[in-house]
Amino acid sequence: MVGVLLIFSIRIENFKSLADVSLELGSLNLFLGTNASGKSNFFDALRVLQGIGYGFTVDEVLNGKPKTANSDIWEQIRGGSSRATFVDKSAERTDTVEGVIRFRVKLSSGGSGEVFDYGIGISAAQGCVREEHLSADGQEIYDSRNLSNDISQPYFQVKYYRGTVGRQPHFSFEKSKPVLHQILQKSEIEVEDRESVKICIRALSNTQRIDPSPSVLREYSSAQSWVRRMGEHGENFAALVKTILRNSVNRDRYLSWLKQLTPIEFEDVVILSGAVGEPLFALREGGIDYPAPVLSDGTLRFAAIAAAFFQEDMPDILTIEEIENGIHASRLRLLVELLKTQTQSSLDWTQVMATTHSPVVLAWLEDKDYKTTFYCKRDEQTGASTITPLSKIPKFHEILAKQPISDLFAEGWLEATL
Ligand SMILES: Nc1ncnc2c1ncn2[C@@H]1O[C@H](COP(=O)(O)OP(=O)(O)OP(=O)(O)O)[C@@H](O)[C@H]1O
Ligand SMILES: [Mg+2]
Repeated sequence: MVGVLLIFSIRIENFKSLADVSLELGSLNLFLGTNASGKSNFFDALRVLQGIGYGFTVDEVLNGKPKTANSDIWEQIRGGSSRATFVDKSAERTDTVEGVIRFRVKLSSGGSGEVFDYGIGISAAQGCVREEHLSADGQEIYDSRNLSNDISQPYFQVKYYRGTVGRQPHFSFEKSKPVLHQILQKSEIEVEDRESVKICIRALSNTQRIDPSPSVLREYSSAQSWVRRMGEHGENFAALVKTILRNSVNRDRYLSWLKQLTPIEFEDVVILSGAVGEPLFALREGGIDYPAPVLSDGTLRFAAIAAAFFQEDMPDILTIEEIENGIHASRLRLLVELLKTQTQSSLDWTQVMATTHSPVVLAWLEDKDYKTTFYCKRDEQTGASTITPLSKIPKFHEILAKQPISDLFAEGWLEATL
């Protein structure tokens, strides 16, 4: 049983403005900070890991990949490979060797309790892997870091730790893509290690980014049958809600959230049908159905964000940028409640990463949430971002006792303190 996977720690080096950032993550992680402070760069890092989990080449991960028979279009990481490596603003321009971008994640499997440690170093300019390693519960599975890989060679070597005695435990791989997928092709890999590799692949790739757009939410879903996961901008939202409604437990929970979240006093959520059965979301109010095209932006965004937590196919990581988008401050509290409840319930537990510009959100956080509420800031000289949990800000608790957190945020106190 693999169960829920959680990335509990992450280190990012040399990627965009994240020169060297290490974070201890929890189930709900909120990212605050002014414009251009590095919040989305952190989310881009998660996307790089997702692309690695999909088995794409380094070039595809960074520069995008067209739609194929087996996979959807993969959008490039903003700026592509030419902007992926950290540029130190304060450094003199030199022609030194391009830096290696490194990602390292530690993850735990809720099912087995095992802990995995995966790291990869890539060169964006050369579009290749420079180093990679994986271990499970402290036991090495593969590692390239102790080998001197010559970057002029087309292949890349790793040491496989459980190689049969007497046999050379070094494997060669194409350097254009991560070892993670390639190693599954090797017949020598032991069953247990194969499982660990698969768990790591799932943890990296099973991420869902949601940024529901009211215009998409107002459309009929193209899928006519049951949909277990919604698209990034809310594609197939109505079909997903139809799926949620067929399960009475989920239906009740979803409706109860929606009733609290939306200011309108509706009796029910109904799914209308188009000419050929395409579903359309609607709310029934006073016996009349109001279809999605007439509902407000905020109502629809709420309905979509809430629906994301009741998908039959839940991701391991859900990322939401600017949660407050289109939502009135008075309702934001319920949204935070929703995020907190859904990341704490043991049943459909998912790890959430969300950004916000709203100081209001801060007002409803409790002490224990500060560990995983991060403040992003960029160093004026180097341009490097720092990401600090509120719990680590000196005297944060004392200051908080004197002044509401939302004031501190709005007045730029956090910015000045860090
Ligand atoms: N390779 C790089 N090296 C250094 N800094 C970079 C690099 N690439 C991008 N940046 C910086 O990162 C900034 C963008 O950061 P990001 O998109 O994460 O902001 P944000 O915190 O999400 O802001 P907003 O709240 O406006 O969305 C850019 O202004 C740019 O200066
Ligand atoms: Mg951003």
